[in-house]
Amino acid sequence: MEFQQVVDRRRMVRNYDPDRPVPPDVLDRLMTNALHAPSAGFSQGWGFLVLTEIADRDRFWSVTAGERAADPWREGMRRAPAVIVCFSHKDAYLDRYAEPDKGVTDRDDSWWTAPYWDIDTGMAALLVLLTAVDEGLGACFFGVPIGTIDAVREAFGVPAGFHPIGVVTVGYPAQDRKSPSLKRGRRAADQVVHHGRWGASR
Ligand SMILES: Cc1cc2nc3c(=O)[nH]c(=O)nc-3n(C[C@H](O)[C@H](O)[C@H](O)COP(=O)(O)O)c2cc1C
Repeated sequence: MEFQQVVDRRRMVRNYDPDRPVPPDVLDRLMTNALHAPSAGFSQGWGFLVLTEIADRDRFWSVTAGERAADPWREGMRRAPAVIVCFSHKDAYLDRYAEPDKGVTDRDDSWWTAPYWDIDTGMAALLVLLTAVDEGLGACFFGVPIGTIDAVREAFGVPAGFHPIGVVTVGYPAQDRKSPSLKRGRRAADQVVHHGRWGASR
């Protein structure tokens, strides 16, 4: 698929065909591409938990549901044959930037202008989303409910230093309802792109 088509077609898919698993080679390509994401200092402080077995996926959905009742969003998402939990690993950045070529030895995080560890894992997640489109799949990025993060780590043996910045469901798309958020419309370039000086257009 042409790159521009991939970008134009990408949208969050929230319902999937439960009877069509993601082929293993396609899953491998999703993750190989994720690992081509840029990362600050080439730290690569990330980790991805790929869940395809039904028992593992069910565990993920029940752990993250907390007290919530079933709802149409969750029902559609639960049909995804693959769930990829994306973790950032802040310590990898503090370690990497303490190396001689960076020289930040105090492990103080106050000088970081933005949480690069989360940014980089987000970039990797975007590559999963785009690769999914290229493969004719649908995907959706969403967050782990804050109160369930420790339970997710516990359920899957994830070390404490890994923080789940989000999850990508992947599968063959089924009919889904458009997100109500889309009614907001896409912001126009002249509202958010500034040329030469903030507020100036080209
Ligand atoms: C950081 C982030 C968090 C998101 N969280 C959710 C979520 O919890 N549930 C959901 O259905 N979609 C979630 N989305 C998807 C957005 O709602 C979606 O990207 C936006 O409405 C634009 O729609 P589109 O991606 O289909 O173009 C999230 C997207 C991002 C980037």
